[in-house]
Amino acid sequence: MAVTILAIESSCDDTSVAVIRDGYVLSNLIANQEIHKSYGGVVPELASRAHQANIVPVTQQAMLRAGISIGDVDAVAFTRGPGLLGSLLVGTSFAKGFAVTRNIPLIEVNHLQAHVMVHFILEREKENRIPSFPFLCLLVSGGHTRIIIMRNHYDMEMIGNTIDDAAGEAFDKCGKVMGFPYPAGPLIDKLAREGNSRAYSFAKPAVKGLDFSFSGLKTSFLYFLRDRLKEDPDFIEKNKADICASLQSTIISILISKTIKASHETGITEIGIAGGVSANSGLRTGMTEEAQKRKWNLFIPEFRYTTDNAAMIGITGYYKYLRKEFTGHEVIPLARY
Ligand code: KG4
Ligand code: ZN
Repeated sequence: MAVTILAIESSCDDTSVAVIRDGYVLSNLIANQEIHKSYGGVVPELASRAHQANIVPVTQQAMLRAGISIGDVDAVAFTRGPGLLGSLLVGTSFAKGFAVTRNIPLIEVNHLQAHVMVHFILEREKENRIPSFPFLCLLVSGGHTRIIIMRNHYDMEMIGNTIDDAAGEAFDKCGKVMGFPYPAGPLIDKLAREGNSRAYSFAKPAVKGLDFSFSGLKTSFLYFLRDRLKEDPDFIEKNKADICASLQSTIISILISKTIKASHETGITEIGIAGGVSANSGLRTGMTEEAQKRKWNLFIPEFRYTTDNAAMIGITGYYKYLRKEFTGHEVIPLARY
């Protein structure tokens, strides 16, 4: 019997709903919230209100695109956390309501685990390549920067973490200083393609082991711009591409050097990247070059599975369904999970 999972993701500013059947994506819809752009970051209260407005129509569309009806859904998977509490509450309440109405199981999913699980998403009419275990994954998003070892679909161990900012935060905060709208990562990526990555150099942290730090880089970037702007008020405008290329290459080199170290220490050569920052073209190219040099079996997610999406919640929920890891209806969302 086929297993059909309806998956809901509402941890931050995107409302996403997906339908997964036996590990294959039937639909994966994302409603972006443009409203936060003008505020320079996500406004939690506005995010939860937008989730409330979006969740029903996005679910209807996801089921329509998948060609299923309410009666076909076997379980509802949802993001329990981490994320913004108000946003999570909308997804959690909706998932509970759906499960109660249909009398089907509810499955809670950890958003970070789900980012890594994108590598197990199957697509129809495509040659699907999935990692074997143990699998080492660099998880880089707006809120997290971690190195994770996956021993099977359920067992994930964190062997490296940021001690301050996340990589995505470094992109976004430095972009904000340059006057870029939120989130700045994609724009920095675009501008960096036209720039010289050796034009400027910024502080690289000396952090022990497999941990990361990005706050020193952010401060060094801020001082650098402040000094240059004193000499020339148009400095940013004139040198945008070179600034972005240099900043991006610093962030990437921090990420890649720790991944190399992790592979070296663990002996694992099945390597992947995941999370919003894994959409970065410089990181994708840099990892591909390292993989060729070091004979890694590298996994880079499709762009649509890098930033927040419900397909990743669905695939994680599918594996939990197979082990009957269901959640009681007393469940509450967790901002930290
Ligand atoms: O995974 P995600 O959608 O949300 C979180 O769970 O945090 O990641 C969002 C982050 C933002 O910081 C955004 O600037 C960054 O991913 N991002 C990028 C790119 N696309 C998204 N950073 C660098 N280059 C990109 N192309
Ligand atoms: Zn995320």
